[in-house]
Amino acid sequence: PATRPIIAVDGPAAAGKGTLARRLATELGVPYLDTGLLYRAVGRRVLDSGADPADPAAAEAVARALTAEDLVRPGLRAPDTDGAASRVAAMPAVRALLLDFQRNFGRDHGAVLDGRDIGTVVFPAAPVKLYVTASAEARAHRRWLERQSRGESVALEAVAAEMAARDARDAGRDAAPMKPAEDAVLLDTTTLDAEAAFAAAMAVVRAKLNLG
Ligand code: CDP
Ligand code: CDP
Repeated sequence: PATRPIIAVDGPAAAGKGTLARRLATELGVPYLDTGLLYRAVGRRVLDSGADPADPAAAEAVARALTAEDLVRPGLRAPDTDGAASRVAAMPAVRALLLDFQRNFGRDHGAVLDGRDIGTVVFPAAPVKLYVTASAEARAHRRWLERQSRGESVALEAVAAEMAARDARDAGRDAAPMKPAEDAVLLDTTTLDAEAAFAAAMAVVRAKLNLG
């Protein structure tokens, strides 16, 4: 039924996808899946094994053996995991291995999923697709604040440069590149706080699902 929908939330790094998607899921009473965590888990395990995250054979072997425990391992948000995740995410075999899990997650009860290709590839028929963006400066600042509050000392410029390189890799790859679905609603959060972004997103959800 329409009250158990799939809601796709895509966009670049630190746009506020996860914060928004989690809140939408709570509001609608459906499960939430952070699909970036799957790619992070693969990238992290490849790094921890001493292999090169750019080596497709190593990444594919890890993706094939991925377990739920890998999604709660330490270091999934570490800076070196960011780059490793986006390297393994460019490999078609890795993406194919993660697809069933994502589709099964939303199948029975509906779900909110956030990532890069939810509206374009994972659930192309989702009734609600949001593409969340913000200026590169705002996103770098948000990620930098998060790192500061975790006690990591890192320059804003370094965060911005790493993020720009990762976004370029995610948007430029051939396999499920990061881009808005044709029927996605764009939500620019540059000047919105999380509360305002949630309100704007809920207006879209209500309209698309005819919730009144
Ligand atoms: O999932 P994604 O990487 O897109 O972003 P996030 O982890 O949800 O949010 C990154 C940071 O931006 C968090 O510290 C949020 O509190 C903050 N933020 C937000 O989520 N939404 C806004 N509209 C403004 C800031
Ligand atoms: O939180 P943040 O936006 O920085 O990243 P994330 O959502 O955790 O995703 C980490 C990386 O996984 C991205 O840079 C992408 O390379 C990849 N990813 C993807 O390719 N497809 C998805 N559906 C989700 C993440």
